Amino acid sequence: MTLKFNLAGNSPTNLRFIETERPVIDETREVLASLAQNPPRLSPKYFYDSRGSELFEHITELPEYYLTRSEAEIFDVYLDEIAEALGSGDIIIEPGSGNCSKVQPLLERATPSAFVPIDIAGDFLWEAAATTALTHPNIAITAIAADFTQEWTFADEIPQGRRIVFYPGSTLGNFDPGAQRGFIKQLAKVVGIEGGILLGVDLHKESTVLQRAYDDAAGVTAEFNRNMLSVVNARTGSNFEPNSWQHQARYNDKMRRIEMELVAQSDQLVNIGNQTLSFAQGEVIRTEHSHKFTLENISDLASAGGMTVTHHWLDRQSQFCLALLQTA
Ligand SMILES: C[S@@+](CC[C@H](N)C(=O)[O-])C[C@H]1O[C@@H](n2cnc3c(N)ncnc32)[C@H](O)[C@@H]1O
Repeated sequence: MTLKFNLAGNSPTNLRFIETERPVIDETREVLASLAQNPPRLSPKYFYDSRGSELFEHITELPEYYLTRSEAEIFDVYLDEIAEALGSGDIIIEPGSGNCSKVQPLLERATPSAFVPIDIAGDFLWEAAATTALTHPNIAITAIAADFTQEWTFADEIPQGRRIVFYPGSTLGNFDPGAQRGFIKQLAKVVGIEGGILLGVDLHKESTVLQRAYDDAAGVTAEFNRNMLSVVNARTGSNFEPNSWQHQARYNDKMRRIEMELVAQSDQLVNIGNQTLSFAQGEVIRTEHSHKFTLENISDLASAGGMTVTHHWLDRQSQFCLALLQTA
């Protein structure tokens, strides 16, 4: 783990930046193992380099992508209630913090003493954390560049105190149900019995609305999906041709999830590590599951972490849910 302070010599004094080591060889193995599944898969964490993070930001502004607007509406309408439910003086931890925009109302209204953004896209995290540190000089910020799906070897870097994990954007839905429960258990351990998890999840709804949200008319989601292959190339030295793959997103009603895929537009040979993989035209790589939730699912997830849903808030159209999970 290394500490990095370089923002042209202008590091805000309330910011620490911690970069965990990324084992290249493990990522190559991980990619090969997931491509060996049926259907071949790649982890959604490979969506995110600086370009992927920028494209995701663009997606959140698209007319079809209601998720971010619905979640923002919940904050607009219920911010006082949410802040009251959280209490003050907490440490807010945000895994997958992206551009740190969603946490801003909480930083302003809940006035935590510390904020810990954690993201795999280190450069993007650094910029977002530095900007947040400058605009919130009274909050101690520890930005951690790490893969939150791996063991939290960086947990000792998180300040002590009453901890709240903020996990918005329905990012939990990218895990399959067993892994969702495992992740909630992990977060419950990080926050301890005094803390809580403020969880934003997308609700199950009519499939056409969902499908449009993941296959926008402007093709931004398609570009975001294909960018994953460039990220895998950069991390593993593979030679995918992103432009030879086409974006596809379908709602699987039975599994209650969007399945996002890349479809090979021609026969392809791809070198990864010491292996050469062949993909026939029309073959798919599954790049993301976005599971959708019911209120009952959220209660079950809370139970998995030994917690209960003490509060929940919905937007006016009941598209999205923000829930506070606390130890019973
Ligand atoms: C869907 S975006 C959500 C961003 C923001 N929290 C929001 O709700 O708008 C997911 C974020 O999580 C980060 N991320 C995805 N997988 C990750 C992983 N395994 N470890 C750390 N960060 C990850 C990405 O870099 C990205 O910033």
